[in-house]
Amino acid sequence: MSRPVDSLIDFLHAEKARGRSHVFLDDSARDGLRKLYVRMRKPEVTTTPATTAHAPLVMQDAVVSGSGKEEQLAGLRKQAENWAPAISLGTLREKMVFATGNPDAEIMLIGEAPGYNDEKEGEPFVGPAGQKLNDILKAMGVPRENVYISNLVKFRPSLPKQTTNTRKPSAEEILACLSLVMAEISVVRPKLIIALGGTAAEGLLGLEGTVGSLRGVWHEVSGIPTRVTYHPSYLLQSSGSNDVKRALWEDMLAAMEKLGMPISEKQRGYFLPKA
Ligand code: URA
Repeated sequence: MSRPVDSLIDFLHAEKARGRSHVFLDDSARDGLRKLYVRMRKPEVTTTPATTAHAPLVMQDAVVSGSGKEEQLAGLRKQAENWAPAISLGTLREKMVFATGNPDAEIMLIGEAPGYNDEKEGEPFVGPAGQKLNDILKAMGVPRENVYISNLVKFRPSLPKQTTNTRKPSAEEILACLSLVMAEISVVRPKLIIALGGTAAEGLLGLEGTVGSLRGVWHEVSGIPTRVTYHPSYLLQSSGSNDVKRALWEDMLAAMEKLGMPISEKQRGYFLPKA
């Protein structure tokens, strides 16, 4: 099924084939682009910060080069350090936070963007949401070092007078960084991808909807089975809700089944209502 953004992507590829590396967008084109992406996103994510008027939106493809996965990922990390499409927006902070984990991982987990702790440590998912993610992996019997963890956006979204607070990345910020995570997927080639939260799901799948409506089935990203589930930070917010915990856990059970992992009766029963 063709997505609304496909014609834009085709146009940009055609421009690139003609040797153009930058496209200039006037205000109405920027507005159109924002609306296109906002249509694919939940209402609370539409608070896109204003970007500098007339700043050109820089589009760039990440280039995979090198002989092995480690070298290829190191090359992508290096490109991300000075990622012009993100830097030129002026809405993201300076420090780049790439990815962590095993380049040969069977499971790739993708979140939205680094937060305060992740930026400080230079590693995704090390703050409270990361601790929750570690708990989930532990319950699955999967060491964190065995999976590959990344984000759609490689820089922490900025806010005025920012301390520990953060915000969801905007559609433009996601668009600016998407090529990096797609390149990571093409290098790691995991057996499955888990999109953590609605923002990651929409960015990766180009589908509109709540996590509740997107989870429970297998999607595909670059031919790789992809499961959508709740963001670990949502578990922190909805910390009494057993339903959300069980739903997330069922997504993890589906992932474990897909990989042919052994699942104990105890694991199958986590977060089931007590009889
Ligand atoms: N930390 C991350 O690295 N990603 C998220 O999506 C949230 C917190």
